[in-house]
Order: sequence, then structure tokens, then C-alpha cells
Amino acid sequence: MKISNIEKIVKKTFLNFNLSEKHSKICAKYLVKAELVGAASHGLARLKMYCERIKKKTINPKAKIKIKKISKSIAHIDGNNCIGFISADIGIKVAIKNAIKTGIGLVAVKNSGHYGLSSFYAEQAVKKKLMVWCFTNAPPAIAPYGAKKSLFGTNPICFGTPTGNKTPFILDTSVSMINRGKIRVAAKFGKKIPLGVALDKFGKPTTDAKKALKGVQLPIAGFRGSGLAWMVDIMSGVLTGANHGGKVKDPFDDFTGPQNVGHFFLVIKPNLFVGKNYYKRIKENIKRIKKLPKIKGIKEIFYPGERMNARYKRNLKKGIVIQKNILEDIKNLNAIK
Ligand SMILES: NC(=O)c1ccc[n+]([C@@H]2O[C@H](COP(=O)([O-])OP(=O)(O)OC[C@H]3O[C@@H](n4cnc5c(N)ncnc54)[C@H](O)[C@@H]3O)[C@@H](O)[C@H]2O)c1
Repeated sequence: MKISNIEKIVKKTFLNFNLSEKHSKICAKYLVKAELVGAASHGLARLKMYCERIKKKTINPKAKIKIKKISKSIAHIDGNNCIGFISADIGIKVAIKNAIKTGIGLVAVKNSGHYGLSSFYAEQAVKKKLMVWCFTNAPPAIAPYGAKKSLFGTNPICFGTPTGNKTPFILDTSVSMINRGKIRVAAKFGKKIPLGVALDKFGKPTTDAKKALKGVQLPIAGFRGSGLAWMVDIMSGVLTGANHGGKVKDPFDDFTGPQNVGHFFLVIKPNLFVGKNYYKRIKENIKRIKKLPKIKGIKEIFYPGERMNARYKRNLKKGIVIQKNILEDIKNLNAIK
């Protein structure tokens, strides 16, 4: 299906659920973009969940988002329990504006919700020739190192910089072995997950996605990944005023109240310390790494974001295929008022 048509349908769905024209457009754009970069787990499969949460009053479709200026560089945003895309979109735009003016922009967001892919926000900064860090916390999925119970989210860490090439460097990674969305999609379609990414509720390794959702996900690199998840929870939750320490609500399973997710955006000018030389230096850095001798089976060393960018461009031309059950969901949602 053509991208512009899908965006229109998704936008209409959000309009039906009382979001404003502007907010519906933002949410539709981000959901469809997730499909375009090949992250279906964060795309249209989530549309029904957002609508359910609006219906059950755990997302505020008419959120009045407040921006509190703390200094010329720093702002604190209260998302008023909106869909995360909306407050995060405002957050990154404020951080970018402040970084352009002062060299550094720092924005903390509270009372937000699931914001999709961190790279959505990093890209906006990088397009303006800025360097960026994005963090968000998420509902319990990972057991802290040494604990039996999930508490940390898959808490992605994202860093982006312009490279002087057409494709920016954007590292955007969960701190779990695989992201939870992929496990949800596997559970929905009855597919297995790889061994070594999750334990069942009895603490046994499992490849059954449904059992994994009831058990715990494993962090990357043992206690190191657990520490990174903890760091993101402190930055996105403790610092911002959002929920933290396992209190972020699961968007699919917990309708007892708003999620209150927190986000943290830091944007800087990359020329702060080395002036115009930054581009020369980053190009040289990438060149040195790409030139290294490769192990068997590897033709090219990619930097983070390179393959995602290529996928995005390919899919933009080709269009995307929407799964039958998701099309069904969309039809039903448009019928519900
Ligand atoms: N909002 C939330 O609550 C939430 C939670 C978890 C994850 N996410 C999002 O889910 C998305 C997917 O996360 P993920 O952990 O599955 O990412 P992933 O494992 O697909 O990729 C992680 C990183 O590795 C890079 N990469 C992949 N293959 C590479 C290769 N061959 N060479 C070099 N680099 C390579 C990618 O560009 C990316 O930056 C992210 O965008 C993340 O922000 C969101």
C-alpha cells in the first residue's frame, strides 16, 4: 500500500479517537515510519493498543502539554498523559532549538507514554547537524542482575551524530537481548524466539514467546546491561519526575492508570570543541574502522544506522505490506467512535 494512503488511514483512526488534527498527524507519521525502517513491532501493531488506552482513559487524547523553561538551555515538559510520540516530538524540538541558540539543549519529559523508536527523535537533531542522546524508560521486562523479577524496561539508549556523509550515525539499541516488541509479535504469530534472550516464570530459558512475556527478559552482557538499564531508569524516570523503579505501566496489560513514562533528550553542537574540524575527524574515524580486515562472511563493516537508513529508503519506494489481522484491527477501529 502507498505510504501516504496508510498515513491517512492511521491519522483518521486517531482523529476518531479524539486526537487533534496535528497530534493525529504526528502519531500516524511515527507509526508508519516504524514500518518503513523495518521495526514492525513498534509500528501499526500498536495502533489498537493506543486506541484501547484512550478508550479506557489511560491516555489523554486532548493533552495540554506544558513546557517549563528552566534556563536558556534546559526545559522540563509535562506531557499530561498524552501518547508518547507527541510530548517526545515537542521535547526533541525544544532541545534542538536550545542547542542551536546556546550550544546545548537538555529536555526532560514526564507524564508521557511509549514513544516508539528513539531514532525518530535522534534523526531530527542530526538533520540539523547536531549531536544527540535520547533515553526513555519502559515497563518492567528485565530482571535486575541478581533478581528473580522483572523491574527495568528494555530502556533503549540512543546516540546520533552527523557524519558529513549522507547517512548519519545513529546507534539505537535496547539494553535487553531483544526488544520486547519483537517478543510480542512472535507471540501474536505463534513464532519462536531465539534461545538465550528470555527465561520463563520459573527461571528456565525458553524459546516460547508467550512464556517469555510471563517470565523475564535477559539484559545484554549480564550485570553490565542491567547497570545500563538502571542508568536509563534514573535519567528518564527518577530525574524527570516520571514513574521509575518498575512503576511504568505496561501499555498492553495494565489499564489501571496512565503509564507516566519519562524521556531525556540531550542535544549539542558537534563543533563545540574542535570547530569545523569535527567533520574531518568523524569521517576519518569511520574510514579507519571501515577499512579494517574483516572476519569470514562479513563483506562490509556498517556503522549503526546505515542499514536502517537503506531499509527506510527501499521501503519508501516499494511501499509496505500490512498484515491481514492489523488491517482488520484498523477497519474495526475506524468503525468505533
Ligand atoms: N520506546 C520504548 O519503550 C522502546 C523500548 C525498547 C526499544 N525501543 C526501540 O526499538 C528499536 C529496536 O531496538 P533493538 O534493540 O531491537 O535494535 P537492533 O538490535 O535492531 O539494533 C541496535 C543497533 O545496532 C545497529 N546495528 C544493527 N545491525 C548492525 C550491523 N550489522 N552493524 C552495525 N550496527 C548494526 C542498529 O543500527 C541499531 O543502532 C529501537 O529503535 C529502540 O529505540 C523502544
